[in-house]
Amino acid sequence: MPSVLIPVKELVKLCRDEGVDQIFVDAAHAIGCTEVDVKDIGADFYTSNLHKWFFCPPSVAFLYCRKSDKQSDLHHPVVSHEYGNGLAMESAWIGTRDYSAQLVVPEVVEFVNRFEGGIDGIKKRNHDRVVEIGEMLVKEWGTHLGSPPGMCASLVMVGLPTCLGISSDSDAMKLRTHLRDCYGVEVPIYYRAPKDEEVNPITGYARISHQVYNTIDDYYKFRDAVNKLVNDGLTCAQFSN
Ligand SMILES: Cc1ncc(COP(=O)(O)O)c(C=O)c1O
Repeated sequence: MPSVLIPVKELVKLCRDEGVDQIFVDAAHAIGCTEVDVKDIGADFYTSNLHKWFFCPPSVAFLYCRKSDKQSDLHHPVVSHEYGNGLAMESAWIGTRDYSAQLVVPEVVEFVNRFEGGIDGIKKRNHDRVVEIGEMLVKEWGTHLGSPPGMCASLVMVGLPTCLGISSDSDAMKLRTHLRDCYGVEVPIYYRAPKDEEVNPITGYARISHQVYNTIDDYYKFRDAVNKLVNDGLTCAQFSN
């Protein structure tokens, strides 16, 4: 199920217990959305984008590398004149390019601190709000959330009405396109294959998010669009590619 919180610390431990030598965690969404303590997690490498939930412009990310003897073997894929001076130095200068996106990080930290509770306050309010809105939507559609609220951060999976007839990845994409083109709603839709024994399974989920700039009207717009499709008796089979 996309957007579910993964118990990464426990998984890292499991891998270590099984003798895995090097562990890399791709936590693209994590920073600004959930708790991140890279030392406590204990992976060899941990990366997260600051342009997803940390208000930075595209291309800003961090890569944490655990101190280890092996680190000297590791190089940035772009070779410039800091080559051989350690990964941190190699990564800090990868030739002549525009570094301005990275330079805004201090301003962004100052910006998030203007909100009550800083980034922790933002995370908590986003989580509480997206769960509340997700629950409003599933109640309306007689479905359920894709995971318990405790396994969500600032995104939740919302079960869509079964009468929409989402029965493949292509149907999910068609519905997403239809919502964008006809209703001005942008929301990722995922197909979930039903299990053999399931009765009236929910086969489509929308991944909704909440950030400080969202208002309840954004979600009402989505709700009303889906209700209109349902009331008009439309199914994915009728949407064009
Ligand atoms: C797990 C994961 N890895 C990587 C990416 C892509 O990141 P980037 O924007 O740096 O290409 C995403 C984007 O959502 C992601 O969820």
